[in-house]
Amino acid sequence: MERNPGLPPTILIVFGASGDLTHRKLIPAVYNLHLDSVLPAEFAVLGLDRVDMTDEAFRQHLRQGVDEFSRRGKADEATWSKFAGRLFFQKADFADRAAFASMADKLKAISQGWSAPANYAFYLAVPPSLIGLISGQLGQAGLASLRERTALIIEKPFGRNLASAQALDAELTTIFKESQLYRIDHYMGKETVQNILAFRFANSLFEPVWNRRYIDHVQITVAESIGVEHRGAYYDKAGALRDMVPNHLFQIMCMIAMEPPVSFAANEVRNKKIDVLKAVRPIPTDQVAAQAVRGQYDAGWMQGKKVPAYRKEQDVDPQSITPTYAALKLFIDNWRWQEVPFYLRTGKRLPARVSEVSIQFRPVPHSSFPPSALSSWAPNRLTIRIQPKEGIQLRIQAKHPGLAVRLNPVEMQFSYMESFHAQPPEAYETLLLDVFHHDQTQFMRADSVEEGWAIVEPILEAWDNDRLSDFPNYPSGTWGPEAATRLVAMDGRSWANPNVEEEGEKEGEKEG
Ligand code: BG6
Repeated sequence: MERNPGLPPTILIVFGASGDLTHRKLIPAVYNLHLDSVLPAEFAVLGLDRVDMTDEAFRQHLRQGVDEFSRRGKADEATWSKFAGRLFFQKADFADRAAFASMADKLKAISQGWSAPANYAFYLAVPPSLIGLISGQLGQAGLASLRERTALIIEKPFGRNLASAQALDAELTTIFKESQLYRIDHYMGKETVQNILAFRFANSLFEPVWNRRYIDHVQITVAESIGVEHRGAYYDKAGALRDMVPNHLFQIMCMIAMEPPVSFAANEVRNKKIDVLKAVRPIPTDQVAAQAVRGQYDAGWMQGKKVPAYRKEQDVDPQSITPTYAALKLFIDNWRWQEVPFYLRTGKRLPARVSEVSIQFRPVPHSSFPPSALSSWAPNRLTIRIQPKEGIQLRIQAKHPGLAVRLNPVEMQFSYMESFHAQPPEAYETLLLDVFHHDQTQFMRADSVEEGWAIVEPILEAWDNDRLSDFPNYPSGTWGPEAATRLVAMDGRSWANPNVEEEGEKEGEKEG
């Protein structure tokens, strides 16, 4: 298989290589990059973990992952065996300095005879508590000081509040430079999230109306139909707000609200995004209840099956007050967005897995049509569907055919699948390739992680301190608690709930 000769020789080193992420996401993504011939011509993966495993057993395990989870289905025998020759495993105790010395030897052995010294991409697919330990060991082993050749890829959660994120950044930057750090938010790798920039800045039509003069409000919904699954131990300490909002939802909000970048240089785009976060109006402690709503799912019915309450899930405290749903109302204090509410919501066990942004335009300033023509009139609305059925819809008014003047809302529609007849790459494919290219545009910079935490900090504090709750407060299979409906109803608005009849999610379709 032909490979990308433009990329320098690269070794992807995965810490936590026997875990779920490697097997479900990382290797299927790398394998797809291999199939697309975009990997460097000289490339290998070295997996590290505490378990005893031969290279052969590691390859077998990864192949099962590809067969089960790759968007392209089962691997072809001949192609896989060529790829498998590039996968290696080494047992390592991350607390043991000697393990890092032997890893360095192994890296040299793997790249023996390559045309140039290899770049190293260190992927921390490990619990957050090990980030400091491993990065310290990499520093001690002299690997972090290869500034131009090493990248450190860190999975979320990046801290659990502002102070812990700052402490982690301080620790990492004593060893690595910011230019070596790739904080992954897999939403940034989603094709449709990236398309928001194309939509906004490659068309001249929308930018002139993309402001407070024409837009009434913005809604961002990231709904999941799955429950907490096997992640109770992590999730019960995190909850919906920490897990989804300062990262995924804020990244989407930044793409919608940012000013046009001068170029797509990594720091230019990231500067424009952070300007949005800096402009978010701080939520005073006494306003938390008016601007944020939490919820926790109760038992209910999902696609004809009875599902348990959150408190009955595995590894969850039976008295837990961890939210599985969060909704927020935010304002962005700048010229473009002054007084335009941004309503954000996310939750588990909602009726479908669907993520979308809904831009609600203002009504026309004056209607020339008689009231009889307007019975089903609705203002323009642009819906950017992030997943599934990726696409964009614009609601416009049309004259209903007939002799009488009657207006009806109709949808203009763009569907990725219908237009391009191609499946978008998975987020991890895009993001890993970006790392190999040393392109940080789609990764979170320290300041953006910290701004994200700073915005939600008053809510986290209020919720962590207020142990009184009415949980569980929404049945599984519904759109969340009553209070979330009130959050927007108080402003005379309502949530634009996606049409779930059409959706239907298969479990296991999800990312990361
Ligand atoms: C992860 C969260 O970051 O994103 C999960 O930790 C969540 O709780 C997942 O299920 C959602 O990702 P996606 O790609 O399925 O929308």
